[in-house]
Amino acid sequence: MTNQPQILIVGAAGQVGVELQRSFSGFGSVVTADLESVDLADADQTRALVRRVKPDVILNAAAYTAVDRAESQPDLAAAINATAPRVLAEEALRLNALLVHYSTDYVFDGQKQQPWVESDEPNPLNVYGATKLAGEQAIQQVGGRFLIFRTSWVYGPHGNNFLLTMLRLARERSHLSIVDDQFGSPTTSIELAHATRTITEGVLSGQFGAPTDWAGLYHMTCADSTTWFGFAKAIFAGAEHRLHVKPPELTPLATKDYPTPAKRPHNSVLSNQKLYDRFGVRLASWQTALEDVFQALSSPGNDPK
Ligand SMILES: NC(=O)c1ccc[n+]([C@@H]2O[C@H](COP(=O)([O-])OP(=O)(O)OC[C@H]3O[C@@H](n4cnc5c(N)ncnc54)[C@H](OP(=O)(O)O)[C@@H]3O)[C@@H](O)[C@H]2O)c1
Repeated sequence: MTNQPQILIVGAAGQVGVELQRSFSGFGSVVTADLESVDLADADQTRALVRRVKPDVILNAAAYTAVDRAESQPDLAAAINATAPRVLAEEALRLNALLVHYSTDYVFDGQKQQPWVESDEPNPLNVYGATKLAGEQAIQQVGGRFLIFRTSWVYGPHGNNFLLTMLRLARERSHLSIVDDQFGSPTTSIELAHATRTITEGVLSGQFGAPTDWAGLYHMTCADSTTWFGFAKAIFAGAEHRLHVKPPELTPLATKDYPTPAKRPHNSVLSNQKLYDRFGVRLASWQTALEDVFQALSSPGNDPK
């Protein structure tokens, strides 16, 4: 490994991709790819990208993330979420590069009462979850130097996410009904990118030992959990204070009264113990991380990490 690793960020324009660019700036030489430059649904383009860049590290933040739309586009979702990760893993193996990939809490069916651990049996309820699970499995089958971070309820200062949707809706409506019987851990793109950099640096420096010691699948979410309703309440409390947004009246809603094309798990809270035990990394609580996002939103020039 040279002192200046070549880092390839795929999906660089997405929520996590943008924060990865920020977190990895100054760490080696960063090359970015987004949908405009490479279509990951085309395996040949994906392969050609990696062969051209010859990275030491591939950070794959790209995905087909439209959970409801995936129900009617299963082949496209599978190409991006399952086939592309396999191709990236094969190319990483050829180069002996590190592949970092993100997966989702939606691989689980939500029936467990406790936080899910990595050894729990996945049973996705929707096409998105099934294609993301296939992507995880493909990377694991190829093997090599890989890290898969399963995360949940991702949001941040940029992109399409629940917080920015709530802020938009607050400008349009005085009353919102929000689902209050799905439990999860809102996780910021900022925390994910920061933890990814810390772990990547440790892996490249040999701090965590050989690939057999660290390669694998880990849960990576902000600490503590809530419902979408609880999350919305916290968002509007912060937004009123930090962004002077007038909070709408909120009503809790049952999932059964908010039908969507894709089913979602009742409980998708993930245990982060394995991540902490192996890498000593713990993400902030979702409440603390939310403050960082408000800070970023209220002072756009300010880098919160
Ligand atoms: N968002 C969540 O709540 C959530 C929850 C759990 C896990 N995750 C996982 O976390 C990772 C990052 O998610 P995110 O929230 O940052 O997603 P995101 O904001 O939707 O970003 C995904 C990026 O992938 C790009 N992309 C989509 N199709 C592509 C294609 N065919 N070729 C190249 N690029 C393509 C998108 O480009 P366009 O925008 O131009 O389409 C976008 O820039 C993903 O693996 C996701 O599955 C997300």
